[in-house]
Amino acid sequence: MTSILKLILTRRLNPFVFYDKKDVELRYSSDEVGLYIHIPFCKSLCSFCPYFKVLYEKDLSEKFVKALIKEIKMVSKKYPKKINSVYFGGGTPALLIGDLSSIVAEIKNSFNVEDNFAIELHPDNLEDKVLESLKEIGFNMISIGVQ
Ligand SMILES: C[S@@+](CC[C@H](N)C(=O)[O-])C[C@H]1O[C@@H](n2cnc3c(N)ncnc32)[C@H](O)[C@@H]1O
Ligand code: SF4
Repeated sequence: MTSILKLILTRRLNPFVFYDKKDVELRYSSDEVGLYIHIPFCKSLCSFCPYFKVLYEKDLSEKFVKALIKEIKMVSKKYPKKINSVYFGGGTPALLIGDLSSIVAEIKNSFNVEDNFAIELHPDNLEDKVLESLKEIGFNMISIGVQ
């Protein structure tokens, strides 16, 4: 239905390509740069949640991780290497627990992270196994909300 509506409204078959000049000119203060990584996948979508999220699909998440690692490399070439903190939010970032170490490795490879590695968790993620893995990967701060 969405595709048909798009076709009728836009009268074109080609996908949209967005160009945003602002995108290449991010403003920052070189002393206080933090990196936010948004992992948009969730097991189910809560009706009250306004954040950008999609239902978890393995294939989609694999494509996402590849693109994210590519983007981390790309961004690190344009911006200062010194990073105060890294925050993984979502979505439910722990759904990608198997990929988090390669994402974190790429961040450490591309930037000099001075301090915290934080991650947002869904209350369902609070299992010893998950917490131990996160600690091993290098996270030293978690954020848990009350649903
Ligand atoms: C975006 S979620 C991400 C982490 C994880 N998926 C979760 O649900 O805990 C982070 C927190 O934001 C809260 N949240 C979601 N929608 C909200 C809203 N409209 N207003 C305030 N908090 C919200 C959730 O309850 C959750 O504790
Ligand atoms: S699980 Fe968290 S991020 Fe996902 S829809 Fe619910 S509140 Fe939003």
